[in-house]
Order: sequence, then C-alpha cells, then structure tokens
Amino acid sequence: MLTKEENDKLTRVGKGTPMGEMMRRYWHPIAISAELPDCDGDPIVRKLLGERFVLFRNTEGLVGVIDEACLHRGASMALGRVEEGGIRCIYHGWKFSVTGALLDTPNHADARVKERLKANAYPVREQSGLIWTYIGPREKQPPFREFHFDEVPATHRTVIRVNIPSNFLQNWEGGTDTSHVSILHSNVTRPGWLSGSNRTANEGDINDFVKQSWDDMSPKLEIENTGFGYHYAGLRRLPGSDAVNARLVPIFLPYGRIIPLPGFSSTIFEVPIDDHTTSTYLVDASEGEPLEEKARLKRSGFAEHNYRNRNFLIDPENHYGQDRAAMRERRSWSGLDGLTQEDATITVSMGPVYDRSTEHLVAADAAIVRLRRRLLDAVDACESGGDPLGVNVADMKKVRAWDCDLEPADSWKRLAQPHNESYPA
Ligand code: FES
Ligand SMILES: [Fe+2]
Repeated sequence: MLTKEENDKLTRVGKGTPMGEMMRRYWHPIAISAELPDCDGDPIVRKLLGERFVLFRNTEGLVGVIDEACLHRGASMALGRVEEGGIRCIYHGWKFSVTGALLDTPNHADARVKERLKANAYPVREQSGLIWTYIGPREKQPPFREFHFDEVPATHRTVIRVNIPSNFLQNWEGGTDTSHVSILHSNVTRPGWLSGSNRTANEGDINDFVKQSWDDMSPKLEIENTGFGYHYAGLRRLPGSDAVNARLVPIFLPYGRIIPLPGFSSTIFEVPIDDHTTSTYLVDASEGEPLEEKARLKRSGFAEHNYRNRNFLIDPENHYGQDRAAMRERRSWSGLDGLTQEDATITVSMGPVYDRSTEHLVAADAAIVRLRRRLLDAVDACESGGDPLGVNVADMKKVRAWDCDLEPADSWKRLAQPHNESYPA
C-alpha cells in the first residue's frame, strides 16, 4: 500500500513533475513507422508525457518531430503542408525542416529572422518499425537503446500500438503480475477449466500457451535487481514431477518488459500519453519464424468492434463488452476475447489513475512492489542530480525472457546469468 503522495509521485508524468522529469531522460517510442508511410504525406499529432507534437516525413523520407504550436503565432502545425524538404504552416507560410531550421517566411522579407529563430525539433531515430524521440534536456541526451527485437529480420517482427484509457503504471503493473495469468487468461492457459467440455483452443489462440504449469495458481516469485531494473522468476510446480517451470521476466525502466511466448518474445512499452492514457507498444520478435500482425491482433482479442485507429474501444456502461452469456454457459472465463483485451479491460476497470492507498497486497504481488521501489529510486536519483537507472545502457540486446522447465538440480539463476554479467545491479 502506498500513501496518496507516493501514488501521485508514481503516476503523474507532466512536465515539471518528479516522474515526468525522470521519464524525459529516456528515449520514447512516439509512433510506429506504418503511421507515417509516405514522403511528404500527411502529418500526424502525437501526445507524449502530456505534451503535443507534430510528426512528418519529409521529401527525403526523414521524420521530424516538432512542437505542435507554430513558432510564429501558435497555429497547429498539424494543419501544415508537407512539401519540398519541410513542413509549412498554412497560416503565414513559415516553413521548417526536420531539425527545426526556419527555411522560409513569406510574410517577412528580412532573411535575418531565419538565422535568429528555430522551432523546437527533437532528436528522432526510426528503427525496426518504431519512431523514437527524445524530449528531455539536450545536454542530458542518452545513447539510443537497441533491443533483441532489433536483431531479427523485419519479416520476423510485428509492431502494434494500442491506446488504452488508463495510467501507464497500472498497465505496467498488470504486465508484471504473473499470478493473474492462469486465472484471468484461463481460456488460453488452462482451457481444462471448462469442465464438461473437450474444448482445447480456438483457431488463432496461442495454442501451445496451454501448459501444465499454469495449474499452479500461486507461483513462487524470486526477484533480483539488475542494471536495467530487475528481473523476476515465476516458479510453478509441475504436477507429478520434481521439475519446476520457470518464467524469467525482465522489467526495465522507465516502463518496459519482455514476455516469453511460444516461439517468440514480446517486448512491451507502456508509454504515457498523459496521466490517464497509455500507448502500449507490443513488439513481437521471433528468431525462427515469420510473424503476422493480423494473427497477433486476433490472438490479443482485437477486432473491429474494439480496436479502431489504434485505440482500444471500451464501454464500461455496456459491461466492458463482456459476453455474460458465454460466462454463464462456462464457454469463457472472462467473457472477453483474448490476452491483451483481457489485460486492457482490467486496467481500465481500475479507473483512469488507480489509487494504491486502498489496496491489499499479498506475496504474489512482490514483483509489483519491487517495480514501484525501482521507479521511486530512479526519481530520487534524478532529483538529486544523478542519472535514472539504465538510461546510459545502449545495448539492451542481451535482455531476454525465458520460459522453461527445470530439473531439480537446475536453477533459474542459470537463465539470468547473462543479465547479471552484462547489466550488474
Ligand atoms: S502562425 Fe504559423 S506562420 Fe504564422
Ligand atoms: Fe495478462
């Protein structure tokens, strides 16, 4: 349980707030490449940490991220014309390059203004289907971070973005919470709960997500700090055997995790749009097989009725879209369609910014407690003039997630060894 003050400190991300300033020290995904497909195509507006930006792709294909308000008199640059190497405000025609340089001022003939003024343009990196930017203090710009998913061929990777109307921390805590997996996600992890039915899995479900170990609903958690945040092992008993199933999940600041899934891993970023909305980026990567976005959306439970323009559509007034008949008839545990939809629905049901001063934690919540501790420590480090955790680690490629059954003589710490060697706490 937290005090209301701690809860505020952990959840408020606007400019000038302790968490907001800490977050601004990292690079952030701000869009996916597919949203800005064409040179000189339409600009888009994106909100990040409560601030508004305009993104455009210039004639050469480079992406610019600038403040939404025009430098001249504040018109929205989202209305602008993207042409001939820049974006031009439609009000008085001022034109800016991707670096913010003022290229043209049709209503002001004196060229000296172009040397004197420059728009706020932010560093951009486009890689592996994601557009990243850095909006923190210039003198503190950290190296760009690369992940395991940057190493696989483009055909073996999918990038999905879902806007969810809830604070980033409750999304992230949900992703860190392993004990809900065999309960909330019963239909995909333990279809056997459907007693009297011989249902295995529907087409498009993560069929081999079904494992005996999910029957152990109170996993033991072991946690170690690392240089990127921490990792935990969820240890589950296997019926009729001395072996133990271990799921090693790395949690990295300021809002990331990697989840092991059958044949691929999912690196997930819970990027705050503002205090009460989150852009969840799901980056799946497989070493062995091609992946498809359509299949991933289906597995996640997203379809036309609840996922449009990359927004998760949810209506609490309509029972969150739950299929209550399917629940009554024991065809569905949650009445919801898939993993991500189930997770997103739960976080939205907790309210836009969950108040942690009223909760009742148990041992199964240990990874969540550690997450809050690591975040608060990073905020404190920043406030006292230091660097937040892991911000200067450019090579995150050895941060990996694992799911395997271990013989009694074996230890999950063997899986964690590369983390401890490359990213010491
Ligand atoms: S407000 Fe943009 S050019 Fe005047
Ligand atoms: Fe979940």
